Amino acid sequence: MTQRILITSALPYINGIKHLGNLTGSMLPADVYARYQRQRGREVLFICATDEHGTPAELAALEAGQSIEEYCAEWNLKQKELGERFGLSWDFWGRSSSAQNKALTQHFAKVLWEKGFLDIRSTRQVYSRADKRFLPDRYVEGTCPHCGYERARGDQCENCTRVLDPADLINPRSAVSGSTDIELRDSKHVFLLQSQFSDELRAWIGTKAEWSGVVTSIALKWLDEGLQDRGITRDLKWGVPVNAQDWGPNPKGEKPDVEGLKDKVFYVWFDAPIEYIGATREWADAIGKPNEWERWWRGSAVKDVRYAEFMGKDNVPFHTVGFPVTLLGANKGEPIDQQWKLVDVIKGTNWLNYYGGKFSTSQKRGVFMDSALEILPADFWRWYLVANSPESADTSFTWQHFSETVNKDLADVLGNFANRTLKFAAAKFGGVVPSGGTAGVKEASLTTELERRFGIYSAFLEETHFRKAAAELRAIWTLGNEYLAKEAPWTEIRTDKGRAALIIRTAVNLIRLFAILSAPIIPFTAEALMRSVKLDPKAVSWPKGRIADELIVIAAGAPIEDQFAFTKILPEQMAAWEERFGGATA
Ligand code: 2FM
Ligand code: ZN
Repeated sequence: MTQRILITSALPYINGIKHLGNLTGSMLPADVYARYQRQRGREVLFICATDEHGTPAELAALEAGQSIEEYCAEWNLKQKELGERFGLSWDFWGRSSSAQNKALTQHFAKVLWEKGFLDIRSTRQVYSRADKRFLPDRYVEGTCPHCGYERARGDQCENCTRVLDPADLINPRSAVSGSTDIELRDSKHVFLLQSQFSDELRAWIGTKAEWSGVVTSIALKWLDEGLQDRGITRDLKWGVPVNAQDWGPNPKGEKPDVEGLKDKVFYVWFDAPIEYIGATREWADAIGKPNEWERWWRGSAVKDVRYAEFMGKDNVPFHTVGFPVTLLGANKGEPIDQQWKLVDVIKGTNWLNYYGGKFSTSQKRGVFMDSALEILPADFWRWYLVANSPESADTSFTWQHFSETVNKDLADVLGNFANRTLKFAAAKFGGVVPSGGTAGVKEASLTTELERRFGIYSAFLEETHFRKAAAELRAIWTLGNEYLAKEAPWTEIRTDKGRAALIIRTAVNLIRLFAILSAPIIPFTAEALMRSVKLDPKAVSWPKGRIADELIVIAAGAPIEDQFAFTKILPEQMAAWEERFGGATA
């Protein structure tokens, strides 16, 4: 069994605060998985970073009136702070503009050229006469040639997820000035010869039966359509410089056209995934063990690493084709101790929509991480977003659905169970875990059902089916409520105080068990539950043995709190938020 788990979440673009769609697609599921794996006692390295190159960064800095360096430094910290307040438990939060990533990106390009997997081609690029510059990627907007969406950006259509070339757009206009005074000009660029890897990729994807349907279907669609070689450089100033003068000859003995590539940087989608490795090096340097990164990424040491990547479906092509080709190419002809680690599990999610339409950073539509935390605690969001994760199909956020979910599951089921238990113990047993009574047939059947559901729940978490896991967890909490309702300690106490004590002692232990099992998804609530039974909030190791043993951990006489408060969302709050964030009219 693999004991080391490497986890990366798609690197959020640096351009401002992320919305709940970003959170639910990549960062949150990655965090749930990381927390769960740590609770299992496995060695986990959970890496994320800001994606700081490319046109999204440049355009955002321009809009903010800041230098790009200043803008990126500021937003890297802001995003980190917000992520931490959401409980995202990264082991390291890096920056794709780091020196480590620059060195790795340049290394991969050099190696790929020298192995014959890069080509330099003369291309026709969109040039704005008004702006006096080339307009790569998001610097151009226009109509998508595939679906007709009128606000498609030059790199990818947000509507149909097709990857585009700026020159493909119909009615192109500059995103900087809006000018349509545009022409096509020649410019030399480096291409990654993805087409050579079609068969290898197909065979590799064929071994990944556990990938979610959306991931495999997007990847195969790309292969079926015929893999295109991909331009991996851009006419921009901000980014990792190509430095072709450092490249040796390719297998045909050709030297690169250094002059033609002089003012180019790598395409953001070339260096961003490499930053998964780059950020691991940043982490290794930060902990003062500069070679430690290699144990996760390279050579025979990676045998016991299971690597899981989390992302929204628009990122799938780059992780099933682009990044794997970079690594497969670099691995060609290398001995095992020089081979790069490829991903084991790709978890891609569909869209979380806002009232059926898209969350959009550029159009400021939907709920963003800062305002979400301004109005409610992180766990309200975490629960809703995991329990309704768009794992098998797109889902839609509405304030009504959000309030109902949170109130029903967290307040009525989980919160109410803990509160009833503690209040009753305070009122009838002096606020300590009562002694007396012996577990009987009712407790045995509760334990059997808990054991069964615990197995299913753990398997869903292991397999990254988080929405199903949340449903199972809710069912586990419900078992607690049903047990209390059926065994009715408030009635028993009149005739059999020992039996009432046993029921409450079992319920107090269930509070602890529920805290442990809930910790991957709602870590703050889990800590509060642990504190309510006066246990170390961090002592949440995953149950290893029988569930029955978990129900006798807290013994008679242990002190406990006299209540567990969990706030509900009120109808008037919901109405106010619907008004503030736009709701159905957004
Ligand atoms: O779609 C995005 O937000 C990209 N910034 C994701 C990059 S993932 C990785 F490759 F870095
Ligand atoms: Zn489209």
